[in-house]
Amino acid sequence: MKFFIDTANIEQIKEAQDLGVLDGVTTNPSLMAKEGITGRENIEAHYKKICDIVDGDVSAEVISTDFDGMMEEAEHLAALHPQIVVKIPMIKEGVKVIKKLKEKGIRTNCTLVFSPGQALLAAKAGATYVSPFIGRLDDISSDGVKLVQQIVDMYNYYGFDTQVLAASIRHTQHIIQVMEVGADVATCPLQPILGLLKHPLTDSGLEKFLADHRKAGEKVGAAK
Ligand code: G3P
Repeated sequence: MKFFIDTANIEQIKEAQDLGVLDGVTTNPSLMAKEGITGRENIEAHYKKICDIVDGDVSAEVISTDFDGMMEEAEHLAALHPQIVVKIPMIKEGVKVIKKLKEKGIRTNCTLVFSPGQALLAAKAGATYVSPFIGRLDDISSDGVKLVQQIVDMYNYYGFDTQVLAASIRHTQHIIQVMEVGADVATCPLQPILGLLKHPLTDSGLEKFLADHRKAGEKVGAAK
């Protein structure tokens, strides 16, 4: 399973990249706004900066919601860097745009997906990735992980190439759960990724190893 970090924060992207397990980055207009990145030139420069930090795919989302506007933005974003994957919302005009971009060889990430039906349309349109938002489903007492499983099973059964990119991940256990149901990618904030490192038995085990080592050294020293 691939790990993407879901942020536009350069420092967090660098920290995740330095860990050596990062496969890409996803952003969205809210994450870009959170970093204070506004204006077409600044936004494009920021995407290029992210592409220079990581080796994998970087999702950059369009703002337009009409066909022509999304097409213009998508072609412009894709031309910025080979790592750019254009994020298109799951709306009627978005499905048409994904289909057209597929014909042009431009890779897409269909975002704001909340149902198997939407995921089916994304795959049939030729999206490179589909982004089911599991956290937002959990937030309204729906089962986000179950949606990921439904999509994975549907895509495997029909042989769709679209990769399932589990998004809106709230915590470390979400990563484990989407891995267990076969998601191709999990995109999440830095903390859930770092949470995978943590286990109290690792900490206590290492502490004992080092304490025993020190004691043995003391005994050797005393015997001399
Ligand atoms: O960036 C797409 C998605 O991961 C955002 O999810 O619910 O944390 O805003 P959320």
